[in-house]
Amino acid sequence: MATLTIVPGDKTAEVGEGTTLLAALQDLGIKLATSDCGGNAQCGTCHIFVQEGRKGVSKTTKAENEKLDTIVGVGSKSRLACQAKVLGTENIKVEILGFDSGR
Ligand code: FES
Repeated sequence: MATLTIVPGDKTAEVGEGTTLLAALQDLGIKLATSDCGGNAQCGTCHIFVQEGRKGVSKTTKAENEKLDTIVGVGSKSRLACQAKVLGTENIKVEILGFDSGR
C-alpha cells in the first residue's frame, strides 16, 4: 500500500500495489478527461505530473514514452496515469493537469 495525494485539493487515498494511477484516481471520483484509448498509452488524455514519489511507481514503458513525446507541456515529472502502476514502496503525490491534454 501507498498513500496517494492528489493536488490541487489534497485528496488522499491508500492505494494497493499494482493499481494504475488512473484506476486510483477514478476510484476517488476524479475524472481525467475521458481516457479515450481505454488505458493503452494511445490517447494521452491521462497525462499527469508525479510530483513526489516517482520511484514509487512503475518505470515508463516505450509506448508511454512515445506518446509523451507527442504531448505539449510534458516535463520530467510527466506520466500517463494509465501506465504508471503503484509499487507500494513509497507514497506518491500527483498533480492533475488541465483536461484534454494530448489532443
Ligand atoms: S488512457 Fe489513453 S493514454 Fe492513458
